[in-house]
Parts: sequence; C-alpha cells; structure tokens
Amino acid sequence: MDHFQYKNRQLYCEEVPVAELAAKFGTPLFVYSQATLLHHLKEIQTAFAEANPIICYSVKTNGNIHLGRLMAEHGAGFDVTSGGELYRALKAGGDPKKFVFAGVGKTDDEIRYALEQGIMLFNVESEAELHNLADIAHSMGKVAPAALRVNPDLPPKTHVKTDTSVKGVKFGLDIETILEVAQGVINRPGISIVGLHMHLGSPILSADPYRMGAEKGVKLIEALRKQGHPIKYLNMGGGFGINYRKKEALPAKAFAEAILPAIRATGCQLVLEPGRFIVGNAGILLGRVLYLKESGGKHYIIQDAAMNDLIRPTLYDSFHRIWPVNPPEGVPAPPEDFEAEIPNTFKQNVVGPVCESGDFLAKDRALPMVKRGDLLAVFSAGAYGMAMSSNYNARVRAAEVLVTGDTFRLIRRRETYEDLVAAEVACTS
Ligand code: LLP
Repeated sequence: MDHFQYKNRQLYCEEVPVAELAAKFGTPLFVYSQATLLHHLKEIQTAFAEANPIICYSVKTNGNIHLGRLMAEHGAGFDVTSGGELYRALKAGGDPKKFVFAGVGKTDDEIRYALEQGIMLFNVESEAELHNLADIAHSMGKVAPAALRVNPDLPPKTHVKTDTSVKGVKFGLDIETILEVAQGVINRPGISIVGLHMHLGSPILSADPYRMGAEKGVKLIEALRKQGHPIKYLNMGGGFGINYRKKEALPAKAFAEAILPAIRATGCQLVLEPGRFIVGNAGILLGRVLYLKESGGKHYIIQDAAMNDLIRPTLYDSFHRIWPVNPPEGVPAPPEDFEAEIPNTFKQNVVGPVCESGDFLAKDRALPMVKRGDLLAVFSAGAYGMAMSSNYNARVRAAEVLVTGDTFRLIRRRETYEDLVAAEVACTS
C-alpha cells in the first residue's frame, strides 16, 4: 500500500499534487508520505504481534529526525551504527532503552556515549570489540548489555555489496567460533551477554534465509545458555525487501512465519531492525528535466536529480521506477511491469548533471517523450536516498518534504552554498 497515486494524469502524494511541492520547494526534492510510512511500520507490528517485538527502526536507512519522531511516537526504538546516528535517534525523541548499536568499528568515544545513554544492546561484531567494550564499561562502573552478532554463513541472497551473512564478510562472529568467544567472557566484569543478533543482508526477497538463520539461532541460544549466558533477546536484524520493479516483495507476514518459531522455541524477546520496508516506498525523488539530447544513437533525459541525491543505481545497478509526474496524453500512469512493452514510449537514459558516466538514474528505460521543464518522479527513493546523498560536485543536498493528507511541511531545507563551505570557513576565522 503506498499513497503515491495518479489522478487525472497527475501524481499525488496522499492528497497533494507533487507538482505543487516542486513549484514551492524546488528540485531535486524528496517527498515522503506519512500514511505510507506508518502503514508499513504497522504492517510489521501486526505481523509479529504475537511476539510483542521491539522494532528498532534502522536510522541509516533514512535518518531525518522528523521521520524518526514519527517512528518513536508510534512505538519504535532505533538501530544505530555510529555516534552520529545515536545523536539523531536521541534528537528524534527515541528512548535509549530501545536502542541497539551495531557496526564492526565502534570507537571508544562512541562506546562511552552509548553506555552513558544506557542503550538496550550493543551488537558485538568481534572478539576484540567484546573485550574492549567490557573494559570501557568496567572502567565506568557499568556492565554493558551485549548481543553477539553471528554470521550464520548462509548462501548468497542479495547484491554482493549488501550481503552480510555469507562466509568471509567483515560482519559478525563466525558461527564456528562464536561459542569459544562467548566462553572467554563468562566471568568477565563489565559485560553481560544477553542476546544473539544477526542481520542477513538487504534487500531480501525471500523468507528462506530468515528461516535458516533463525534455526541456527535457536541452536546457538541453547548452547550459549548452557555456558551460563542469560540470553533474553533474539535480534533478527532488518533486510525485508520492497517493491522496486513491480510486486516482487513479500508481506511482513511471510517473514514473521519464518522467524516466530524461533521465538516460540527460545522464549526470547524478539528485536527487529527494519529500515527499507518502512521508509522505502514512503518516499519519491522529484527531478526537473533540463535538456534532452542524443549521443551515439542513445536518447538522454538530463534532469536535475543526480547520483549525489540517489546513488543506488550507480552503486548497485538498482532499478527504480521513473515516470513523468504529468504523463502526456495516451500514457496515463506508470506501468505495472516495466519489462513489458509499453505503448507510446521509447528507450531513454535518465541522467543527472554530475561529471561521471556513472551518474544515471535509469538506463535504456521505456519512457514517454518528455520536454524541458517536465517533472520526473523516481519511486521507492525513501530508503538509502537522502541517507547516502553527498555534496559531490559541490551540489547542495536536496530538500525533504513530509505530506500528511492534504497538508505538507518542509522537514529539511535545501542546503545553501554557504552550507557547502561552512566547516571550512570556521577554520579561517
Ligand atoms: N540492521 C543492520 C545491522 C544493518 O546493517 C542494516 C542495513 C539494517 C538493519 C537495515 O536494513 P533494511 O531493513 O533497511 O534492509 N545502501 C544499501 C543497503 C545497505 C544496508 C546496510 N545495512 C541499499 O541502498 O540497498
């Protein structure tokens, strides 16, 4: 269910024509639908209701504090991966008792910051980190609550750059040695191992990896408890896929069916770290067409959104649906299936102004004829869009707008040229 719909050949976000937003706030512009965002959070809460899970929204997916505030108000905790994300989650009004902190390279300062805030769980990714965490906590007179992050060694399941549970990746503790590592801290002051964590990769379009991971998790929890560790939490991470092309994603219920048996078997409190599933289809990126050109027999639409706004196509060859905000006569709405023949279209490349051949949003894509000044909507841009944006080519970062029904508000202003140099100017004065 998403609230970006065409009415009378016009794209709306909820009840607001997005062209109005582009006229008011300029482009490139991220537009979010509150109803879509909350719908997807609710879908997870409902699917997993039996386990009364702690849903830790993954800040890295989209860290805007206004979206974070909505998450917190609707019961979510936060999954953070740096001191900066911890800061964002606190700014959003999150309760640190529902924060988890993952990442292979937590610094001492970040660990101290998280201990001071009293977070729920550190997801520990190596033996060295485990001992460092214990030492720091002990020196502060605290006991760090930790979940061991296991790499469950599953078959490949998503893009190689975002698969985090195949053998040899940098994430987590090897499943073969995790018990040895756990044995080594049985009586160590400053640390209490109270959970098991895994994050399999992202995005995942099948429930099987979760079933396999959860089964391995049950066995590990038994063994950890036998060693004397009071395991209370099973954290199955994030990674639930969404519809980028057509209807390829699974409902949250399918993931729940794969994961809940492990909760029944262990009696653990379930923790989840979804990001993309919640915010991915709740956002679009709007760009305005600057020029059309042909080169080497290829048709280019040059518009003002670029790889610095949405780097996923450049980095992972990701597919994002793109369609005019006001499609011309005879081309009413974006097709259900972009691989099928689409009338009144021809193959075009959607690119931005950045000086790299890799700066594209779509290649050889069936699109109708557009003209200078037309708006294009890039769909499913709510996850890892703004969060991975940059100032490359000294481009100011886009603005973000949140729509609720027939109202909207700016939740991040467009950056200015002064913003671009502010941290440098600060050094000369
Ligand atoms: N938990 C951990 C430990 C993670 O590393 C991640 C994502 C998540 C949760 C949230 O995953 P989600 O539910 O959003 O799938 N930039 C890539 C995705 C990188 C994912 C990184 N970790 C992309 O644009 O596809």
